[in-house]
Amino acid sequence: MSYFRPEIEQMKGYVPGEQPQGGKFIKLNTNENPYPASAAVRRAIEAVLDRGLARYPDPMCEGFRRRAAEIFGVEPNWILCGNGSDDLLTIVTRAFVGQGDCLRLPYPSYILYKTLAQLQGAEAEETHFEADWSLTDKFAAARPKLKLAFLPNPNSPSGTVLSPARVLELANRLPCPLLVDEAYGDFAEQNCLSLVRENEKIMVSRTLSKSYALAGLRFGFLIAQPQVIENLIKVKDSYNCDALSIAGATAAIDDQAWLAETRNKIVATRSRLVDGMRKLGFATVDSQANFVWNPHPTIAVKPLYERLKAERVLVRYMNYAGWGDGLRISVGSDDQIDACLGLLKTMV
Ligand SMILES: Cc1ncc(COP(=O)(O)O)c(C=O)c1O
Repeated sequence: MSYFRPEIEQMKGYVPGEQPQGGKFIKLNTNENPYPASAAVRRAIEAVLDRGLARYPDPMCEGFRRRAAEIFGVEPNWILCGNGSDDLLTIVTRAFVGQGDCLRLPYPSYILYKTLAQLQGAEAEETHFEADWSLTDKFAAARPKLKLAFLPNPNSPSGTVLSPARVLELANRLPCPLLVDEAYGDFAEQNCLSLVRENEKIMVSRTLSKSYALAGLRFGFLIAQPQVIENLIKVKDSYNCDALSIAGATAAIDDQAWLAETRNKIVATRSRLVDGMRKLGFATVDSQANFVWNPHPTIAVKPLYERLKAERVLVRYMNYAGWGDGLRISVGSDDQIDACLGLLKTMV
Protein backbone atom coordinates (compact mmCIF):
# COMPACT_ATOMS: atom_id res chain seq x y z
CA MET A 1 0.00 0.00 0.00
CA SER A 2 1.53 3.32 -1.00
CA TYR A 3 -0.60 5.74 1.00
CA PHE A 4 1.95 5.93 3.80
CA ARG A 5 4.32 8.86 4.18
CA PRO A 6 7.51 7.87 2.35
CA GLU A 7 9.58 8.03 5.57
CA ILE A 8 7.32 5.41 7.15
CA GLU A 9 7.54 3.07 4.17
CA GLN A 10 11.30 3.43 3.96
CA MET A 11 12.19 3.04 7.64
CA LYS A 12 12.86 -0.31 9.29
CA GLY A 13 11.07 0.36 12.58
CA TYR A 14 12.50 -0.16 16.05
CA VAL A 15 12.87 -3.78 17.17
CA PRO A 16 12.62 -4.16 20.97
CA GLY A 17 14.65 -6.78 22.84
CA GLU A 18 13.24 -10.31 22.84
CA GLN A 19 10.39 -10.86 25.34
CA PRO A 20 9.83 -14.64 25.40
CA GLN A 21 6.27 -15.29 26.52
CA GLY A 22 6.55 -19.00 27.20
CA GLY A 23 9.09 -21.21 28.95
CA LYS A 24 11.47 -20.30 31.70
CA PHE A 25 14.42 -18.08 30.84
CA ILE A 26 17.02 -16.37 32.92
CA LYS A 27 16.32 -13.04 31.31
CA LEU A 28 19.31 -10.72 31.17
CA ASN A 29 18.61 -8.98 27.86
CA THR A 30 16.48 -5.87 28.50
CA ASN A 31 17.87 -4.47 31.76
CA GLU A 32 14.88 -5.34 33.87
CA ASN A 33 15.20 -5.52 37.64
CA PRO A 34 15.42 -9.08 39.04
CA TYR A 35 13.66 -8.16 42.31
CA PRO A 36 9.93 -7.73 42.95
CA ALA A 37 8.76 -4.11 43.18
CA SER A 38 7.92 -2.50 46.53
CA ALA A 39 4.90 -4.22 48.14
CA ALA A 40 3.26 -0.78 48.28
CA VAL A 41 2.85 -0.88 44.49
CA ARG A 42 0.51 -3.84 44.56
CA ARG A 43 -1.58 -2.36 47.36
CA ALA A 44 -1.95 0.92 45.45
CA ILE A 45 -3.02 -0.85 42.26
CA GLU A 46 -5.50 -3.03 44.13
CA ALA A 47 -7.04 0.06 45.73
CA VAL A 48 -7.64 1.54 42.27
CA LEU A 49 -9.15 -1.72 41.05
CA ASP A 50 -11.49 -1.72 44.05
CA ARG A 51 -12.72 1.74 43.06
CA GLY A 52 -13.11 0.63 39.43
CA LEU A 53 -11.77 1.90 36.12
CA ALA A 54 -14.85 3.62 34.76
CA ARG A 55 -13.38 7.13 35.07
CA TYR A 56 -10.56 8.67 33.03
CA PRO A 57 -7.29 9.00 34.92
CA ASP A 58 -5.77 12.29 36.11
CA PRO A 59 -4.32 13.76 32.88
CA MET A 60 -1.35 15.34 34.70
CA CYS A 61 -0.68 12.62 37.33
CA GLU A 62 -0.75 15.29 40.06
CA GLY A 63 -0.23 12.85 42.96
CA PHE A 64 2.93 11.50 41.36
CA ARG A 65 4.16 14.99 40.47
CA ARG A 66 3.72 16.23 44.04
CA ARG A 67 5.63 13.31 45.57
CA ALA A 68 8.39 13.32 42.95
CA ALA A 69 8.75 17.10 43.33
CA GLU A 70 9.40 16.68 47.06
CA ILE A 71 11.98 13.97 46.42
CA PHE A 72 13.84 15.91 43.72
CA GLY A 73 13.56 19.37 45.30
CA VAL A 74 11.56 21.05 42.52
CA GLU A 75 7.98 22.29 42.15
CA PRO A 76 5.40 19.88 40.62
CA ASN A 77 5.20 22.00 37.47
CA TRP A 78 8.81 21.01 36.67
CA ILE A 79 7.65 17.41 36.08
CA LEU A 80 5.92 15.72 33.14
CA CYS A 81 4.83 12.07 33.36
CA GLY A 82 4.84 9.59 30.51
CA ASN A 83 3.81 6.08 29.53
CA GLY A 84 7.36 4.86 30.08
CA SER A 85 10.24 7.17 29.27
CA ASP A 86 9.93 6.17 25.59
CA ASP A 87 6.68 8.19 25.57
CA LEU A 88 8.59 11.23 26.87
CA LEU A 89 11.30 10.80 24.23
CA THR A 90 8.54 10.75 21.60
CA ILE A 91 6.84 13.85 23.04
CA VAL A 92 10.12 15.77 23.14
CA THR A 93 11.04 14.76 19.58
CA ARG A 94 7.62 15.74 18.24
CA ALA A 95 7.82 19.07 20.10
CA PHE A 96 11.22 20.14 18.76
CA VAL A 97 11.99 18.26 15.55
CA GLY A 98 10.11 18.76 12.30
CA GLN A 99 10.45 17.41 8.79
CA GLY A 100 13.90 18.09 7.33
CA ASP A 101 15.37 19.05 10.73
CA CYS A 102 18.30 17.33 12.43
CA LEU A 103 18.40 15.38 15.71
CA ARG A 104 21.85 14.65 17.14
CA LEU A 105 22.71 11.51 19.08
CA PRO A 106 25.88 9.75 20.16
CA TYR A 107 26.87 6.42 18.63
CA PRO A 108 26.62 3.68 19.72
CA SER A 109 23.67 4.46 21.97
CA TYR A 110 19.94 3.78 22.36
CA ILE A 111 18.68 2.74 18.91
CA LEU A 112 15.19 4.19 19.40
CA TYR A 113 16.47 7.80 19.05
CA LYS A 114 17.17 7.22 15.38
CA THR A 115 13.71 5.76 14.83
CA LEU A 116 12.13 8.82 16.47
CA ALA A 117 14.01 11.10 14.05
CA GLN A 118 12.94 8.95 11.09
CA LEU A 119 9.29 9.14 12.16
CA GLN A 120 9.51 12.94 11.93
CA GLY A 121 11.15 12.81 8.51
CA ALA A 122 14.25 14.28 10.16
CA GLU A 123 17.92 13.44 9.89
CA ALA A 124 19.55 11.52 12.76
CA GLU A 125 23.14 12.75 12.96
CA GLU A 126 25.42 10.44 14.90
CA THR A 127 28.52 11.64 16.76
CA HIS A 128 30.81 8.72 17.57
CA PHE A 129 31.96 8.18 21.12
CA GLU A 130 35.74 8.20 21.54
CA ALA A 131 37.47 4.91 22.43
CA ASP A 132 37.18 5.81 26.16
CA TRP A 133 33.44 6.54 25.74
CA SER A 134 33.89 10.30 26.09
CA LEU A 135 32.41 12.81 23.62
CA THR A 136 34.36 15.63 21.99
CA ASP A 137 32.94 19.12 21.42
CA LYS A 138 31.81 17.86 18.02
CA PHE A 139 28.68 16.66 19.82
CA ALA A 140 27.85 20.31 20.60
CA ALA A 141 28.81 21.85 17.25
CA ALA A 142 26.29 24.17 15.57
CA ARG A 143 24.86 23.20 12.20
CA PRO A 144 21.79 24.26 10.25
CA LYS A 145 18.48 22.70 11.27
CA LEU A 146 19.88 21.11 14.44
CA LYS A 147 16.83 21.13 16.75
CA LEU A 148 17.48 18.58 19.51
CA ALA A 149 20.22 16.37 20.97
CA PHE A 150 19.77 13.17 22.97
CA LEU A 151 22.37 12.00 25.46
CA PRO A 152 21.80 8.74 27.33
CA ASN A 153 23.71 9.04 30.60
CA PRO A 154 24.56 6.33 31.65
CA ASN A 155 24.83 5.27 28.04
CA SER A 156 23.56 2.00 26.61
CA PRO A 157 25.22 -0.35 25.67
CA SER A 158 28.39 0.87 27.43
CA GLY A 159 27.03 1.75 30.89
CA THR A 160 29.48 4.68 30.90
CA VAL A 161 28.74 8.25 32.01
CA LEU A 162 29.79 11.78 31.19
CA SER A 163 30.22 13.90 34.34
CA PRO A 164 27.54 16.53 35.05
CA ALA A 165 30.20 19.23 34.49
CA ARG A 166 30.88 17.87 31.00
CA VAL A 167 27.15 17.57 30.23
CA LEU A 168 26.64 21.22 31.25
CA GLU A 169 29.56 22.27 29.07
CA LEU A 170 28.06 20.46 26.06
CA ALA A 171 24.58 21.85 26.76
CA ASN A 172 25.91 25.42 27.01
CA ARG A 173 27.61 25.07 23.64
CA LEU A 174 24.75 23.35 21.85
CA PRO A 175 22.48 25.64 19.82
CA CYS A 176 19.44 23.44 20.68
CA PRO A 177 17.85 21.68 23.68
CA LEU A 178 19.56 18.63 25.17
CA LEU A 179 17.60 15.70 26.57
CA VAL A 180 19.70 13.78 29.10
CA ASP A 181 18.18 10.30 29.18
CA GLU A 182 18.76 9.01 32.72
CA ALA A 183 16.85 5.74 32.35
CA TYR A 184 19.75 4.20 34.34
CA GLY A 185 20.48 7.27 36.49
CA ASP A 186 19.58 5.58 39.79
CA PHE A 187 22.46 3.13 39.36
CA ALA A 188 25.07 5.85 38.75
CA GLU A 189 27.17 7.76 41.26
CA GLN A 190 26.18 11.17 39.86
CA ASN A 191 23.27 12.55 37.84
CA CYS A 192 22.32 15.70 35.93
CA LEU A 193 19.08 16.62 37.70
CA SER A 194 20.51 19.78 39.24
CA LEU A 195 21.59 21.02 35.78
CA VAL A 196 17.96 21.61 34.82
CA ARG A 197 18.04 24.79 36.97
CA GLU A 198 21.22 26.01 35.29
CA ASN A 199 20.09 25.91 31.68
CA GLU A 200 16.51 25.84 30.39
CA LYS A 201 17.71 23.86 27.38
CA ILE A 202 18.45 20.83 29.60
CA MET A 203 15.72 18.22 30.19
CA VAL A 204 16.28 15.00 32.17
CA SER A 205 14.15 11.89 31.64
CA ARG A 206 13.81 9.04 34.11
CA THR A 207 11.97 5.72 34.11
CA LEU A 208 10.48 3.41 36.73
CA SER A 209 11.16 0.44 34.42
CA LYS A 210 14.66 -0.34 35.64
CA SER A 211 15.48 0.85 39.15
CA TYR A 212 11.91 0.47 40.47
CA ALA A 213 11.31 -2.96 38.84
CA LEU A 214 8.24 -1.74 36.94
CA ALA A 215 9.01 -2.25 33.24
CA GLY A 216 5.60 -3.88 32.79
CA LEU A 217 3.74 -0.92 34.32
CA ARG A 218 5.03 1.70 31.84
CA PHE A 219 5.81 4.89 33.71
CA GLY A 220 8.49 7.53 33.28
CA PHE A 221 8.91 11.21 34.03
CA LEU A 222 10.79 14.20 32.74
CA ILE A 223 12.21 17.13 34.70
CA ALA A 224 12.55 20.49 32.96
CA GLN A 225 11.82 24.16 33.63
CA PRO A 226 8.07 24.98 33.85
CA GLN A 227 7.95 26.99 30.60
CA VAL A 228 9.35 23.93 28.79
CA ILE A 229 6.91 21.55 30.48
CA GLU A 230 4.00 23.83 29.53
CA ASN A 231 4.75 23.43 25.84
CA LEU A 232 5.43 19.69 26.07
CA ILE A 233 1.98 19.22 27.65
CA LYS A 234 0.46 20.42 24.37
CA VAL A 235 2.10 17.52 22.54
CA LYS A 236 1.25 14.62 24.84
CA ASP A 237 -1.88 12.47 24.60
CA SER A 238 -4.51 13.75 27.06
CA TYR A 239 -4.43 10.57 29.15
CA ASN A 240 -0.96 9.25 28.41
CA CYS A 241 -0.70 7.45 31.78
CA ASP A 242 -3.43 5.10 32.97
CA ALA A 243 -4.94 4.97 36.45
CA LEU A 244 -3.17 1.75 37.46
CA SER A 245 0.26 2.95 36.41
CA ILE A 246 -0.17 6.34 38.09
CA ALA A 247 -1.13 4.66 41.38
CA GLY A 248 1.66 2.06 41.16
CA ALA A 249 4.28 4.62 40.20
CA THR A 250 3.29 7.01 42.99
CA ALA A 251 3.56 4.20 45.57
CA ALA A 252 6.88 3.10 44.10
CA ILE A 253 8.55 6.50 44.19
CA ASP A 254 7.26 7.01 47.72
CA ASP A 255 9.26 3.96 48.86
CA GLN A 256 12.77 5.38 48.63
CA ALA A 257 14.00 2.85 51.23
CA TRP A 258 13.11 0.02 48.81
CA LEU A 259 14.98 1.83 46.04
CA ALA A 260 18.13 2.31 48.11
CA GLU A 261 18.21 -1.33 49.24
CA THR A 262 17.57 -2.75 45.76
CA ARG A 263 20.04 -0.43 44.09
CA ASN A 264 22.76 -1.49 46.55
CA LYS A 265 22.14 -5.18 45.80
CA ILE A 266 22.33 -4.56 42.05
CA VAL A 267 25.49 -2.47 42.30
CA ALA A 268 27.15 -5.25 44.37
CA THR A 269 26.18 -7.92 41.83
CA ARG A 270 27.38 -5.67 39.01
CA SER A 271 30.92 -5.76 40.46
CA ARG A 272 30.82 -9.55 40.60
CA LEU A 273 29.60 -9.70 36.99
CA VAL A 274 32.36 -7.34 35.77
CA ASP A 275 35.06 -9.34 37.62
CA GLY A 276 33.68 -12.65 36.35
CA MET A 277 33.55 -11.52 32.73
CA ARG A 278 37.09 -10.09 32.84
CA LYS A 279 38.37 -13.39 34.26
CA LEU A 280 36.84 -15.06 31.20
CA GLY A 281 38.85 -12.75 28.92
CA PHE A 282 36.15 -10.22 27.96
CA ALA A 283 37.12 -6.56 27.57
CA THR A 284 34.31 -5.61 29.95
CA VAL A 285 33.63 -1.89 30.37
CA ASP A 286 33.18 -0.41 33.89
CA SER A 287 29.47 0.25 34.26
CA GLN A 288 27.33 2.82 36.12
CA ALA A 289 24.11 1.15 34.97
CA ASN A 290 22.30 -2.15 35.66
CA PHE A 291 23.98 -3.88 32.72
CA VAL A 292 27.48 -4.52 31.54
CA TRP A 293 28.97 -4.27 28.04
CA ASN A 294 31.26 -7.13 27.06
CA PRO A 295 33.21 -7.10 23.83
CA HIS A 296 35.79 -9.86 23.45
CA PRO A 297 39.23 -9.15 21.94
CA THR A 298 39.60 -12.52 20.18
CA ILE A 299 36.52 -14.76 20.37
CA ALA A 300 33.37 -14.30 18.21
CA VAL A 301 30.62 -13.52 20.71
CA LYS A 302 27.47 -14.12 18.63
CA PRO A 303 27.77 -17.92 18.99
CA LEU A 304 28.05 -17.42 22.76
CA TYR A 305 24.75 -15.53 22.75
CA GLU A 306 23.18 -18.37 20.76
CA ARG A 307 24.57 -21.09 23.00
CA LEU A 308 23.43 -19.24 26.13
CA LYS A 309 19.96 -18.93 24.61
CA ALA A 310 19.88 -22.66 23.92
CA GLU A 311 20.58 -23.10 27.65
CA ARG A 312 17.70 -20.67 28.36
CA VAL A 313 19.85 -17.74 29.40
CA LEU A 314 18.93 -14.68 27.37
CA VAL A 315 21.50 -11.89 26.99
CA ARG A 316 21.59 -9.17 24.31
CA TYR A 317 23.92 -9.55 21.34
CA MET A 318 24.59 -6.13 19.82
CA ASN A 319 26.52 -5.45 16.63
CA TYR A 320 27.10 -1.78 15.85
CA ALA A 321 28.23 -1.10 12.29
CA GLY A 322 31.59 0.66 12.26
CA TRP A 323 32.08 0.07 15.98
CA GLY A 324 31.98 -3.63 16.83
CA ASP A 325 29.92 -6.17 18.68
CA GLY A 326 29.53 -7.49 22.19
CA LEU A 327 27.21 -9.05 24.74
CA ARG A 328 25.17 -6.68 26.86
CA ILE A 329 24.28 -8.51 30.05
CA SER A 330 21.75 -7.12 32.53
CA VAL A 331 22.59 -7.35 36.21
CA GLY A 332 20.26 -10.03 37.53
CA SER A 333 20.27 -11.62 40.98
CA ASP A 334 23.48 -13.23 42.24
CA ASP A 335 22.11 -16.68 41.35
CA GLN A 336 21.23 -15.62 37.80
CA ILE A 337 24.64 -14.07 37.24
CA ASP A 338 26.38 -17.15 38.67
CA ALA A 339 24.40 -19.35 36.26
CA CYS A 340 25.33 -17.16 33.30
CA LEU A 341 29.01 -16.97 34.25
CA GLY A 342 29.08 -20.73 34.89
CA LEU A 343 27.78 -21.46 31.40
CA LEU A 344 30.10 -18.96 29.73
CA LYS A 345 33.05 -20.60 31.50
CA THR A 346 32.30 -23.83 29.67
CA MET A 347 32.13 -21.98 26.31
CA VAL A 348 35.21 -19.75 26.14
C1 LIG B 1 18.65 4.49 27.28
C2 LIG B 1 17.21 4.12 27.44
N1 LIG B 1 16.30 5.08 27.49
C3 LIG B 1 14.99 4.80 27.62
C4 LIG B 1 14.54 3.51 27.72
C5 LIG B 1 13.05 3.28 27.77
O1 LIG B 1 12.59 2.87 28.96
P1 LIG B 1 11.03 2.85 29.30
O2 LIG B 1 10.26 3.27 28.09
O3 LIG B 1 10.74 1.48 29.74
O4 LIG B 1 10.88 3.88 30.40
C6 LIG B 1 15.45 2.46 27.68
C7 LIG B 1 14.98 1.06 27.74
O5 LIG B 1 15.63 0.12 27.52
C8 LIG B 1 16.82 2.78 27.53
O6 LIG B 1 17.74 1.79 27.46
